[in-house]
Amino acid sequence: MVLEAIRYSPGSLEILNQLKLPHQEEYDQVHSSTDGWHAIKDMRTRGAPAIAIVAALSLAVELQNSKVSDKADEVAAFILEKLNYLVTSRPTAVNLADAARKLKKVVESAAKAKDSDGAAVSQAYCDAAAQMMISDVSDNQGIGKYGAEWISKQAGGGQVSVLTHCNTGSLATAGYGTALGVIRSLHANGSLKRAFCTETRPYNQGSRLTAFELVHDKIPATLITDSMASALLRLKGPSERIAAIVVGADRVAANGDTANKIGTYQLAITAKHHGVKFLVAAPRTTIDLQTLSGADITIEERPGQEMTFIKGPRFDGVDLDLSQTETVSIAAKGIDVWNPAFDVTPAELIDGIITEIGVVEKGEDGKFDLTIAMEAHH
Ligand code: MRU
Repeated sequence: MVLEAIRYSPGSLEILNQLKLPHQEEYDQVHSSTDGWHAIKDMRTRGAPAIAIVAALSLAVELQNSKVSDKADEVAAFILEKLNYLVTSRPTAVNLADAARKLKKVVESAAKAKDSDGAAVSQAYCDAAAQMMISDVSDNQGIGKYGAEWISKQAGGGQVSVLTHCNTGSLATAGYGTALGVIRSLHANGSLKRAFCTETRPYNQGSRLTAFELVHDKIPATLITDSMASALLRLKGPSERIAAIVVGADRVAANGDTANKIGTYQLAITAKHHGVKFLVAAPRTTIDLQTLSGADITIEERPGQEMTFIKGPRFDGVDLDLSQTETVSIAAKGIDVWNPAFDVTPAELIDGIITEIGVVEKGEDGKFDLTIAMEAHH
């Protein structure tokens, strides 16, 4: 069975509540843009592409289940206001802002069309939002194919092991995944020896979500804590030698600097030190040419409690009760906490950016030119 983070049919949207994984698989109904905003803000749905798609579809189901107006301009104004609101849910991932920009264009042009009415504008919006979900899966399959080919070629064929960070799979996207899509593709080609995934502290997207997907799909995989990455990269034995680190992205700036889950930057540094390739896998919806460099990316800071407490199944001292969860303190009370959710990896540490149309490498000047990749993408 394929893992689905988002279930959509016209008039109905459900999201897999990621706060309950890996212990419980529970879907939450999303009825409106307000529900969508909260699902994103509360981290029940997450990952840059999934955030954009849930936001877009939450407004689609709201429009499908309630009539705003017969007038095209009034429906258009309603949609634009709701999109502006949805974009405020989380700041770092650019996919949501990119989706909102494209959907606004669709709505504005539908409202201007001859004899347009409220129903036509609403339908144009819903069709474009649904198409985003379909396109994300096919983009991810392209990323998987190009990334797997690139890694296999660099490694000179045979089976390879790779390390990944955070969650970039079906749960973080509309399906298949970005960096995890590359791993899926390597596995499907018979070219994957083993995937290693980091725990991804403090919110444990790696141990809770990526590990869940890898086990679900029966991909040979090993979990490590974030602090074990350098020790792993030093191993040169045939079964552990890491051919590449492949991660996702929340925003790739015009110069290639990449914001991704906290801990990505230190992985890129250790990859450079150990001569291991470091790759970013991201659809072009994650590339933001308006942001010139990583210095211009807003990094979300999250509550300190995400570091000082963990949530898990209730443990009575003998057995785990998977139907009940409890929150446990894991830090000294009163300690100050800094909890940035993302960091920026400088382009100089990145060997390639894997997109759905191919792998972008640096030119002779040692710099990425992402404008070419973006030319056919509006
Ligand atoms: O804070 P989260 O859980 O939304 O962070 C998710 C990530 O940072 C992912 O690595 C990123 O969005 C890559 S996109 C597939």
